[in-house]
Amino acid sequence: MAVQVTGQVLDIRRAGSYHVLSLTAPGITELTRPGHFVTLGIGGEESSMLLRRALAIHQVQSRGVYGGTLDIVIGVHGKGTQWLVDRRRHDPIDIVGPLGRPYVLPKEAVSTVLVGGGYGSAPLFMLAEQLRERGCRVDVILGAATEERLYGALELKRVASTLTITTDDGSLGQRGRVTDVLPAIMDASDAAVVYACGPMPMLQRVSAIATSRQAYSQCAVEEAMACGVGVCMTCVLPVIGEDGVTRMLRSCTEGPVFRGDRVRWADVGTVPSDTLGAPVGGGH
Ligand SMILES: Cc1cc2nc3c(=O)[nH]c(=O)nc-3n(C[C@H](O)[C@H](O)[C@H](O)COP(=O)(O)OP(=O)(O)OC[C@H]3O[C@@H](n4cnc5c(N)ncnc54)[C@H](O)[C@@H]3O)c2cc1C
Ligand code: FES
Repeated sequence: MAVQVTGQVLDIRRAGSYHVLSLTAPGITELTRPGHFVTLGIGGEESSMLLRRALAIHQVQSRGVYGGTLDIVIGVHGKGTQWLVDRRRHDPIDIVGPLGRPYVLPKEAVSTVLVGGGYGSAPLFMLAEQLRERGCRVDVILGAATEERLYGALELKRVASTLTITTDDGSLGQRGRVTDVLPAIMDASDAAVVYACGPMPMLQRVSAIATSRQAYSQCAVEEAMACGVGVCMTCVLPVIGEDGVTRMLRSCTEGPVFRGDRVRWADVGTVPSDTLGAPVGGGH
């Protein structure tokens, strides 16, 4: 149910190491669920940067004169993200979305823990609000290398039952990693589900901790993408199905949110030899 629209830049502002880009996106906002992403065309009509860039949807506002707006949080990585943060008010941007499978919300009012690494906190805001509306307890853990690379701690504090911060260098919160504090926070609330977004090694560790406590984990992965719509197979990773068989699933259409205990984290980037349809002897 994705649509392609030409949005307009409404605002772009700094937030620590990141930029928050607000865009009009009529037709996209009303379809958006927490965990969805958009792809943006880069460089304008004459651009040589042919691949669209994938970015998580941070917030949406459905009403108002603009007929739907969305926010994304951008960490400048290379030429594409630099082009995005150089936009000015009223510049046009080509948007496709909402894309991917969003987070699955629990049917009952259970305790949840949300874990965000760096700009990985961006999709957790809408999620936290919707979990609270369902009566769920929402404990949030945010982590980053430094204070500058945390996003949205103040805003998340308003909606979370508790907020715990970790930084690698100890510049804010507890020194260390999100996974250092996760076990105790899960145990204190008897958490049934952990929702996570951040770098792959963090997601791997988060899902192992959740599984060790008989909890579900829902992880939004950031696998490199090209088409973003299920055609090119750039974004595949090995995932074990309910039948116990490993398949290479596309993170743009079957993800980006996966059950953490189903992803073969140690084999990401490879085609394990026991994958359905794998070449004999495995592949890379
Ligand atoms: C589902 C999803 C959600 C994302 N959400 C965010 C977000 O909220 N904020 C944010 O800042 N970034 C996010 N990213 C990462 C973002 O897509 C890359 O940083 C961006 O594409 C880099 O483009 P570039 O031209 O600046 O860098 P370059 O390195 O020049 O990019 C070259 C190519 O590599 C690919 N690529 C490079 N790094 C990544 C990466 N880490 N992940 C995926 N593809 C990559 C790009 O598709 C691009 O085509 C997300 C990625 C995915 C897949
Ligand atoms: S990015 Fe092309 S199939 Fe996922």
